[in-house]
Order: sequence, then C-alpha cells, then structure tokens
Amino acid sequence: MPISLLSTGRYLPPFTVGNEAFTQFLDTSDEWIVSRTGIHQRHIAQEETTTDLATRAAAQALERSGLAPEEIGLVVCATVTPDTSVPMVAANVKRGLGIERAAAFDVNANCSSFLYALAAARGMMETCGFANAIVVGADCNSQLIDWSDRSTCVLFGDGAGAVVLHRGEEPGFLSCYVDCVTDTDHVLTCHHPRKDTPFCKAGAPHNTDLYMKGSAVMRFAVKALAKAVRAAAAEAGVAVEDIAYFVPHQANLRIIQSASKLMKIPMEKFVVDIDHVANTSSGSVPVALDILNCSGQLKKGDLVCLVAFGGGLSSAASVIRV
Ligand code: ACO
Repeated sequence: MPISLLSTGRYLPPFTVGNEAFTQFLDTSDEWIVSRTGIHQRHIAQEETTTDLATRAAAQALERSGLAPEEIGLVVCATVTPDTSVPMVAANVKRGLGIERAAAFDVNANCSSFLYALAAARGMMETCGFANAIVVGADCNSQLIDWSDRSTCVLFGDGAGAVVLHRGEEPGFLSCYVDCVTDTDHVLTCHHPRKDTPFCKAGAPHNTDLYMKGSAVMRFAVKALAKAVRAAAAEAGVAVEDIAYFVPHQANLRIIQSASKLMKIPMEKFVVDIDHVANTSSGSVPVALDILNCSGQLKKGDLVCLVAFGGGLSSAASVIRV
C-alpha cells in the first residue's frame, strides 16, 4: 500500500541571534556571513533540549493530522544531538505526545538523518504493518559547535520539523535514494568523549566539537545534491523538470544556487529558509517542508523532492506526490 504525507509541523526556539552578535566575540562581520552563506540569523535553544524541540514539532504535526495519539504505531527521531541516549529521543517524544505504546527509535546519518529516518519509517510501516507514523528531525547544534571557530559556529541553528505518514490508498512517496561515501579526508568530524576505565586509559583526547573543512564539504555537497535529485527522480519515473518544488538541506545558500545552476533548475523551485533559520541539521529538511506546506503554494498532485547531504559523507533524496 502506498505511504503518503498526512501533515507537517515545525518548532524553532523563540530566541534568535543575528550576525552582529558574533562580532562581539569573533573576528567576523555581517557582510562576510551574508555574502558567503546567505544566513542573517539563527534560532538558538536556551532552556530547551532536543527532546523539547522534537516534541513540539511532532505535536504540531500530530494535531494537524487529525489523528489521536493512540493511532500512531511508530515514532522515529532523526538527530545528531540527542539530549539523552538512554532512553532514545524518540521514546521521550512518544511520552511527550501521550502515546502509551508505539515502536520508537532514533536515526543518525548526520545532516541526511531525516531522509534516512523517512526511509526507515516507510520500510517498517510496510514490513510491520503500522498504519501511521511520526518522523521528526531535531537538533540542538548549539551544543555541538565550537563557539570560538568562526568558520563553523556562524552556520548553525537549533530547530525541529516533523511529518505524519499514513499507509493507505493515496499516492505519496515515489522513491528513496540513500548513499554514504567514505569521508577519506575527515572533512566533517565530531568525537564523543572517552573516559578511563579500570582496565584502560582513555588515551589522547579527541575533538568533541564539530570540525569541518568547509570548502571540501561544499564541493562534495553540490555534486551529491545533484546526484541524489537525479537518482530519486529516475527511481520515481519522473523527469526532474516535472518536479514542482525542491526542499534541500539548508547548509549554505551558495550550495543551493550552485546545484540549481548545475541541474538547470530555476532557483524559484527551491525552498530557501537559510536566511532566518540557518543549518538545523536533522531539522533542516522537515522545517523547510513545513514552510512550503504552510505557504499555500502546494497544489494537490504536485511533485516535491526532498534532498539532503552531510557528514559521513551521506546523501539522500526522495520524491513525493502530495
Ligand atoms: N568571518 C570572517 N572570515 C571567515 C569566517 C567568518 N565567519 N569563516 C571563515 N573565514 C575566513 C577563513 O578563515 C578564510 O580565511 P583565510 O583565507 O585567511 O584562511 C576565508 O574566510 C575563506 O575561507 P573558506 O573556507 O575558503 O571560505 P568559503 O567560501 O569556503 O566559505 C563556508 C566557508 C561558509 C564554511 C563554506 O565552505 C560552507 O558553507 N561549506 C559547507 C558547509 C556545509 O555544507 N555543512 C553541512 C554539513 S554539516 C553536518 O553534516 C553536521
């Protein structure tokens, strides 16, 4: 049975940080950040955790779906920054939504996490028979970044987006492309802290902040985005030109512009919110999808392509008929 998109939701923490704020503690400028990234501001969580962001986005999507909490059989949370590993964030979200019993698990494929989570959820809906699922992408990147590294800290924000999926008669997801090429040059890394045990020493400490070779990631991203879009369109049996909207991972406006030029797709077809949302990692694609959904531009039957790339080096895309 086909799986369709029933509703979307998002949550961005109310506290916003403009580019000027960085000039107080870093050698940077609003002009540099805007011209190199397209970012003007980002939302930063103060009291809120990844669980809080995810639960609020999921609650909005659930309310808009018209379903009752007990009708949800599966909750999947895409995140790179879980505030708890045990229990997994998806279990926290499930509890926050008042769902007594449902399968729940987290997915981490860095900035491609949400699309991997969608693929996993769809697969489990088919194999385990769930009628409805919630997939949420949420990250508190402010907890992961090095606030003294001007080349990364200006790029990120915190936020979450969510969708409710339904297995029924309506056409919906037409394709799913997922990939991960080896990050041979370690262009995107972040280590978990290690501690001494009674049996061995932790050894030399690794960098536990996000480290990125920006221009190498950018080169990978443009090609990966184009490759993923073409593969997802081909698998769906549709022409790239027939896709009404592209919802790309919001990492840098220049990546989206370069991919648009490479694929000869007009920029008007790309959903862009990076100017005020920045890169929210796992939240990036579902937040942009919710913005598109709420804009009133989508018509029944439109083809939409979701596409992401990130650490790993991962990439993923999916074509949906809405
Ligand atoms: N303000 C002022 N100068 C800066 C800043 C800043 N905030 N950041 C870097 N610079 C400087 C650099 O130090 C460098 O100076 P130098 O020439 O004296 O060494 C100069 O600007 C140029 O740096 P580049 O890295 O070449 O600049 P580039 O045009 O590549 O832009 C950027 C850098 C914005 C990081 C870009 O490469 C980018 O966006 N990359 C992709 C990021 C991405 O896609 N991330 C997604 C994955 S994240 C994930 O998966 C968790």
